Amino acid sequence: MSLAGKKILLVVSGSVAAYKALELTRLLRKAGAEVTPVLTAGGARFVTKEALAGISGSRVHDDLWAAEAEIGHIRLARWPDLVVVAPASANLLAKLANGLADDLASTILLATRAPVLAAPAMNPAMWAHPATQANVEALTARGVSLVGPEDGPMAEPESGTGRLAEPPHILAAIERMLATGPLAGRHVIVTSGPTHEPIDPVRYIANRSSGRQGHAIAAALAALGARVTLVSGPVAIADPPGVAVARVESARDMLAAVEAALPADAAVFCAAVADFRPDAAPAQKIKKTPGAPPPEIRLAHNPDILASIAGRTQGRPRLVVGFAAETEKVVEHAREKRTRKGCDWIVANDVSGDVMGGAENAVHLVTAGGVEDWPRLPKDEVARRLAQRIAESFA
Ligand code: CTP
Repeated sequence: MSLAGKKILLVVSGSVAAYKALELTRLLRKAGAEVTPVLTAGGARFVTKEALAGISGSRVHDDLWAAEAEIGHIRLARWPDLVVVAPASANLLAKLANGLADDLASTILLATRAPVLAAPAMNPAMWAHPATQANVEALTARGVSLVGPEDGPMAEPESGTGRLAEPPHILAAIERMLATGPLAGRHVIVTSGPTHEPIDPVRYIANRSSGRQGHAIAAALAALGARVTLVSGPVAIADPPGVAVARVESARDMLAAVEAALPADAAVFCAAVADFRPDAAPAQKIKKTPGAPPPEIRLAHNPDILASIAGRTQGRPRLVVGFAAETEKVVEHAREKRTRKGCDWIVANDVSGDVMGGAENAVHLVTAGGVEDWPRLPKDEVARRLAQRIAESFA
């Protein structure tokens, strides 16, 4: 998503993760945003004013009284579309939760009317402390958004929850908060790619789905402002920008990840889910025994993710879209599939040619109202049209 023309006031407070604020600033500028950094005294211990000024291309404010003499903290507080605190130290969160205003950053945070996004970073024990948790609860109740902290190794020889969210994750959270477009405020789940169904620890059953169509749909929905959760089977293509990705292997994992991502306003099931899985996958590799007959693989049915979500009586997304891969009687089969699976729309794919793994797709959109025949189009264009139709259905 483009952040062109968006004004972001970036507060950098004291944490060893403050160096990541430089990378965040770079990503924000690359996305077109204007960034004005505010550095706390603690932050200045970890990152220099010069580095922030160089990367942001803007003057760095770090002194309440100097700012007062020049442009005033109120003007700084009024300037941004969004205030981002990254990293947000335990101390700064405590000050914000309690309304303290004893330096430039805390004064701006108290005076601003812009939405605030905080990315906490601290030692796991400090994060888990009831005082910090109470502060976080008070802040979220007041509408402050949080991104992270994440799990993982820390600067200290310990690990746990407390790491600053990675800059691309902070960027995605910023994009969501500033999203405009017909799907802003909507959550859409998209499944994509194949599934891998284990035969044993090293072998699996799979299919040729590349994930290109599903990933393109996720990107197109995000471009219209939706918050998108992409549940993807194993693919060799990059994550779409501005989309939360849950990576899964098997159909059963995919169903669990979709359920965990609910509630959603819409769900698009584009994954080529394996209908069957080996009934029992032994924990050890299957060995060949000379002279013995080859092993037989017994198959079991996988859950139908689309039918299961479309059939929910509670928490069903308002719009459920399925795909159908057909080689003959495309529309007739798709109509039948729409009714059988209980979804609202079916995007019927004519896969008689080189669609699986290819760059183009010829589809028919089957809805309760009828059938639209779309011409053969690049998968990105199919994605854009589908996202547009989804946006229209929510208008
Ligand atoms: N689907 C699913 N879970 C499954 C199987 C399929 O969510 N276990 C979804 C796919 O993501 C897609 C639609 O259901 O949206 C495809 O339905 P499916 O019954 O698999 O049909 P096709 O593969 O199109 O063809 P066939 O009916 O011949 O198997």
